[in-house]
Amino acid sequence: MATTNVDRIDDFEELFHHKLAQMYYAEQELVETMDEMAINATNERMSEGFADHRDETRTHVQRLEDVFAALDQPAERRENPVVDALEQERMTLEDAINDDDMLDMAYLNAAMMTERIEMTAYEGLTTMANKIGYDDEIKKPLKSNHDEEESAYRELSAMETASDMKSLWDRLTPS
Ligand SMILES: [Fe+2]
Ligand SMILES: [Fe+2]
Repeated sequence: MATTNVDRIDDFEELFHHKLAQMYYAEQELVETMDEMAINATNERMSEGFADHRDETRTHVQRLEDVFAALDQPAERRENPVVDALEQERMTLEDAINDDDMLDMAYLNAAMMTERIEMTAYEGLTTMANKIGYDDEIKKPLKSNHDEEESAYRELSAMETASDMKSLWDRLTPS
């Protein structure tokens, strides 16, 4: 279970911990999301991309556990309303869209949005870690996760314009 209520946050260390716990929840939820999108996507390249990033996301969870360990704190999940909203939207679209190609494109956009949110979250954590003066044991795993979100975003973005997607776009675009 994720903690829902937030006690007072009075300093950067507490804010860092709060955001870290939210990210720990997010990464765990995203393993499931990536897995479901890998299964549901009909485009092979997209499905493989989601499966690859699902495996990377499992490593993101482990790296966050390393950060908690470096802080000498137990790993804690805190509800992340941003990730919950993305999940809600995904389910809404799955119910609303019948066309497989159209659903693939909705997944692609959702995944790109997710990667940008993750990147920004890790940038925020890194900024706080620098201000607090945390060492590399804490900062390195955050950077490794950030860099993998960034390369996942780039791959998705390349997919959006790839030639093998052209026939799919053409079919979906009214002529
Ligand atoms: Fe991640
Ligand atoms: Fe990601």
